[in-house]
Amino acid sequence: MEKIILEEKQGNPTFKVSLKNNSKKLYIESYGCQMNFSDSEIVASILDKNGYNTTRNLEESDLILLNTCSIREKAEFTVRNRLKSFKKLKKQNPKLIVGVLGCMAERMKESLLEEEKLVDLVVGPDAYRDLPSLLENVEGGQKSVNVLLSREETYADISPVRLDSKGISGFISIMRGCDNMCSFCVVPFTRGRERSRSPLTIVAEAKDLYQKGYKEVILLGQNVDSYRWNTNKKEEVIDHNIPTTNFSELLEKVALVANDLRVRFSTSHPKDMTDDVVHVMKKYRNICNYIHLPVQSGSSKILQKMNRGYSKEWYLKRIKSIREIIPDCAISTDIITGFCDESDEDFQETLDLMKKVEFNFCYMFFYSERPKTLAERKYKDNVPLEIKKSRLQKVIDLQKEHSLKSNESSVGKIMEVLVEGPSKKSALEYCGRNDENYKVVFPKEDSKEGDYVNVLIERFTSATLIGKII
Ligand code: 5AD
Ligand code: SF4
Repeated sequence: MEKIILEEKQGNPTFKVSLKNNSKKLYIESYGCQMNFSDSEIVASILDKNGYNTTRNLEESDLILLNTCSIREKAEFTVRNRLKSFKKLKKQNPKLIVGVLGCMAERMKESLLEEEKLVDLVVGPDAYRDLPSLLENVEGGQKSVNVLLSREETYADISPVRLDSKGISGFISIMRGCDNMCSFCVVPFTRGRERSRSPLTIVAEAKDLYQKGYKEVILLGQNVDSYRWNTNKKEEVIDHNIPTTNFSELLEKVALVANDLRVRFSTSHPKDMTDDVVHVMKKYRNICNYIHLPVQSGSSKILQKMNRGYSKEWYLKRIKSIREIIPDCAISTDIITGFCDESDEDFQETLDLMKKVEFNFCYMFFYSERPKTLAERKYKDNVPLEIKKSRLQKVIDLQKEHSLKSNESSVGKIMEVLVEGPSKKSALEYCGRNDENYKVVFPKEDSKEGDYVNVLIERFTSATLIGKII
């Protein structure tokens, strides 16, 4: 199939038209964090220039790639099972190539080729540019691995192929890696050192999405608050008079792209998030009033063991400050139960913190020891699984109460909602998100995907607000 591709060299908006003849089919599946979903779009772009179109149909694929997550053991089980399910396809089509990308590739390296005989290709998060030559090796009958991590790679010049996208909301990676070394977390080992991407290329990507009709961009980084770009890096030529760009300045630049382009970002870190970021959020209506600020635990003793760099009191001060600047700002968090040495009292402090903050949303996990991490090397994973799980259930129950309370307080309010697509339950209804990231469902009437509509909230479930367009 012949197709015309418009390529934009970011920072230098010249358009080049090329004719391409993509004859092969790539099926790519992503697991884990939004960053992985965003990376898959970079991979699709690299392979698009090397003969592959994407497909949603496994049966017709020439290449299957799983972009994997290692954050908890369970995520790795899921991928292993998925790999096993390709056995039949491999038998039917011996030329089919199966590859593992992302964090599991990095963590397990060559052993994946041995352990999972099905895998032909293993590529870590900083080696995607090497995919075409690795694929050539595989086609020549060799298994291929590249898991080298980089201090520089940001894929800044690659214009992602938007996957599964309705052209409404697009991810923009603003940085890669993480230098924080939280003691439970495998990410610094799988994604390497932190590095920021040039603001010019980020703004250019946001402009490009806006021109293509997108209504929302989501800026992604493992810790967006430590975003920092120095202008003495050679690509940056325009902003010579500004020595560095920090996250609040970057956020402002992106907000200025267009006042009807919504801007979201994730993830914030309590030790690094400044009031400047919140002031910029307040200044620009198109920056959504929503902050994901993982706390992990409410006990300062556990936070110290987790190497998070803040105490319970510091976290509560950050929340107070956010709410003083933007009183209706939605705040979500991540909580881990049963980390090493977590006593009943420590756990009570987590519940206590939840009660003080009343998070709008919460992502909740029980601790899963990960190889190579500081916790694995230094501490005993000494909270029994049943206790980890029963504490997790308590956190879930409490969060349900808080979510219901906050949903209840939304009834009677009118909210601006960006229409994202049909609701899961009815073809007559649309689903979208409000400024605070709440899912809102309403009868379609004459609205269409990508519209902003005003919805009066009438009812709610635990996860959804339900209303009608007014
Ligand atoms: N066990 C359980 N949860 C974890 N997370 C990260 N590492 C682990 C682990 N080893 C959670 C944290 C983090 C989120 C992305 O995943 O809460 O914020
Ligand atoms: Fe992991 Fe901590 Fe970095 Fe988040 S900030 S990716 S939890 S090390």
